[in-house]
Amino acid sequence: MSIPRDFIDLLLTKVDLVDLIKLQVPLPKKTGSNYFGRCPFHTEKSASFSVSQPKQFYYCFGCGAHGNAIDFMMQHDRLSFPEAIEALARQTGLEVPKTVTQATKSDNLNDLYDMAENAMHYYYNQMRQSQRAIDYLKQRGISGKTAQQFNLGYAQPGWSHILDTLGQTPADKKKLLDTGLIIKKPDANDYYDRFRDRIIFPIRDYRGRYIGFGGRILDKGEPKYLNSPETPLFQKGHELYGLYQALQSNRQLDKVLIVEGYMDVIALFQHDITYAVATLGTATTPHHLQRLFRYSSNLIFCFDGDQAGRTAAWRALQVLFPLMQDSLQIQFLFLPDGEDPDSLVQKEGKASFEERVNKAHSLSTFFFQTLSQQADMASMEGRARFATQALNYIKQLSANLFQSILIEELSKRARIDINELKQQVKGKEAPKNSPPLQATTTIKLPTSIRLAITLLLQHPHLAGLIKTPLPTNTLPGHTFLCQLLETIQKSPNITTGALLEYWRGQKEEALLAKLAQIDPIVPETGIENEFLGAIKQITLSTYDEEINRLLAKAAQEGLSDEEKVALTSWITTKKSLYSS
Ligand code: CTP
Ligand code: MN
Repeated sequence: MSIPRDFIDLLLTKVDLVDLIKLQVPLPKKTGSNYFGRCPFHTEKSASFSVSQPKQFYYCFGCGAHGNAIDFMMQHDRLSFPEAIEALARQTGLEVPKTVTQATKSDNLNDLYDMAENAMHYYYNQMRQSQRAIDYLKQRGISGKTAQQFNLGYAQPGWSHILDTLGQTPADKKKLLDTGLIIKKPDANDYYDRFRDRIIFPIRDYRGRYIGFGGRILDKGEPKYLNSPETPLFQKGHELYGLYQALQSNRQLDKVLIVEGYMDVIALFQHDITYAVATLGTATTPHHLQRLFRYSSNLIFCFDGDQAGRTAAWRALQVLFPLMQDSLQIQFLFLPDGEDPDSLVQKEGKASFEERVNKAHSLSTFFFQTLSQQADMASMEGRARFATQALNYIKQLSANLFQSILIEELSKRARIDINELKQQVKGKEAPKNSPPLQATTTIKLPTSIRLAITLLLQHPHLAGLIKTPLPTNTLPGHTFLCQLLETIQKSPNITTGALLEYWRGQKEEALLAKLAQIDPIVPETGIENEFLGAIKQITLSTYDEEINRLLAKAAQEGLSDEEKVALTSWITTKKSLYSS
């Protein structure tokens, strides 16, 4: 991670978690410095979701969701870590600094983004000057407003329009080349425009930056669509056409419809179905899905009703299966033969189209239907083969509830005893990405260490009471305690939430989150004494370790003079600490 640690610390001091969460989640109750509301991460009637102002940490007593401001953005707005940082920075008016290597790289990238945006404007203006292009859009039923919302443009016929307009200098030519807008002639130091006499569909990323272009021929001809090649800005397998517009038009995406084409997204949008995105002439990839899951847990894949459509749907299912989680709802919508969402919504309108969307098949229906069509379900052998095939998929699942549902359904369809099926699934290897939360939270720490860590996490200012480094010892958790002390001593005003940030993604993370919210039942006034008491215990055990080591050595091989002095001094120090 190349975002500097100092910046993350600064960012977390600028954000107030209570304010941040209140924008999205009502927190009507307040007890002490804790705010309570209904948890946004699970369905509940009571208010188990607590947000602590001083700790800058939230925790749900119902589902265990927890974290600081960054976690909240990641979990609630489904952002990646850098995206969450970026979003918080934008809210607080800070700019995410770049590390040196990143700076040179992203300076080039910024140039390319600028060039792509210039090209968008160029094509957009060309569209207004070409009656032929305007007529084409009209004939396809696209309104001026929709054309504007999607920044539709036009590339004139000819070989060097964008080249001559935007590629005046060698540096600009290089940028045009790197964004895929011009192509180098073989064996010559010369270039020509990639898009000629085509309607231009600018492709934007989820943040709205222009990253690539699609071009459709106006008359008949091959290829019908031409897209930007893979460039530093544009990776086909990652991007979804229309996602930016969908995010702009919906405060929250309750569902996302995944369609095939540019025109499908645009026609749906014009009919006020603003939640469609298109993969760009490629099959759905795990990248697509992971991006979409951040915004919506309800995905509906839309395919042609013909054999090709069913094959494509099955391919999407295979990509999906290993990524399935219990919280996701996945559906498949098959359209009548010869129709696509564009033609259908133009023909029958929003209401009828959405009726189809609401009646889409569930993932499990489509799954079992497809497999049973390939088997002779009337014979026992056929059903056994069907079950084996289904189990191969079911075994890949790490979503437990979804897995149980499929096993139950399989048992009915194949008429095989459910326990036998469960047995077969159990034989699988453990799912790879199940979090080792259980293991980490049960690490046994000595009581004094555990208490010291807990109190420090919850009241970081306590670190100020420790003036000299703790003597080392071998107690489990001792090294960690020292790290924690050092971290706080470097930023004395750090909050719990910001402190936890230092252990993101590390093995201690889950344990720390747990300690950060448990109630050690120490009254506010006794916290300092309790903490110093724990530290004293820990220090005493360091002395004990040393004294015992030296005594053992004395009994076996004797002590050097220095060791004798050390032993006496340990014993006196221990005595004085006892009586202090
Ligand atoms: N596509 C592509 N290259 C092609 C053909 C198609 O990249 N040669 C992609 C485009 O993103 C296109 C989508 O696949 O939007 C669907 O293709 P198709 O069904 O052929 O086109 P439509 O979207 O129906 O386009 P139109 O209605 O303009 O004919
Ligand atoms: Mn079409």
